[in-house]
Amino acid sequence: MNSTLNIVVFSGAGMSAESGIETFRDSNGLWENYAIEEVATPQAWQRDPDLVTEFYNQRRKTIIEATPNQAHEGVVQLEEFGDVLVITQNIDDLHERAGSKNVLHLHGNIRQSKSSGPNQEKAYYPIDGWKLDNNSRCPEGYRLRPHVVWFGEDVPCYEKAALKLHDADILIVIGTSLQVYPAAGLIQYASNAHTKYIIDPKADELHVPSDFIKLNSTASQGIANVIKSMRK
Ligand SMILES: NC(=O)c1ccc[n+]([C@@H]2O[C@H](COP(=O)([O-])OP(=O)(O)OC[C@H]3O[C@@H](n4cnc5c(N)ncnc54)[C@H](O)[C@@H]3O)[C@@H](O)[C@H]2O)c1
Repeated sequence: MNSTLNIVVFSGAGMSAESGIETFRDSNGLWENYAIEEVATPQAWQRDPDLVTEFYNQRRKTIIEATPNQAHEGVVQLEEFGDVLVITQNIDDLHERAGSKNVLHLHGNIRQSKSSGPNQEKAYYPIDGWKLDNNSRCPEGYRLRPHVVWFGEDVPCYEKAALKLHDADILIVIGTSLQVYPAAGLIQYASNAHTKYIIDPKADELHVPSDFIKLNSTASQGIANVIKSMRK
């Protein structure tokens, strides 16, 4: 019987707020003053791929200039207690830059691009620096787009995430308003977890089952408290 603890961290934009990256909710549904329809949908790409590419180039620049915060580092420290898998809605790579090895990006990774042709999920291409060029093409000749899951698109690793959550012994939900579906629905798969935390300054306002331990705090403070309680 494998006795290693399976710890799953399910994170959202609030995880990176202390790194200076704006969350979605805290900017009134605008993303850096752009309406989602303008920049984060397949229709926006069809309409104006240059605008969409430039939008994510600026996001990528901000993310490259940012650094992981104490919450990201706290998630790495959790490896002291068992196997840690990070399932994140974030498109930034701050979990990896903090040192987390197992990170599943539900909504893609802004540091990569993919084909805008029919075989989009076949390959992801690392982007050198912050700028994805408008003329960059995949081997089949289709324009490269940011490796981001846009609103209205499927979440390719949904099943994989659901299976991992099903095996979780401990679930720690951090910095997500749980309003973006289908990702938000994934936490229900953690039915075998004996301990579930939600960390958010507005945790009391968020809709989670009653068996969650609610920590109304920032990501960094909340993860520090969880680590303290696990060391007892
Ligand atoms: N960093 C990123 O990659 C990024 C940033 C913005 C939006 N997004 C995308 O937009 C969608 C937004 O959904 P979401 O639920 O992740 O974000 P959201 O903006 O809907 O919710 C963020 C949550 O974080 C909380 N929060 C704010 N500051 C915090 C802190 N210091 N510590 C802990 N929690 C804090 C807020 O109270 C809120 O509940 C995601 O799907 C994501 O792909 C990503």
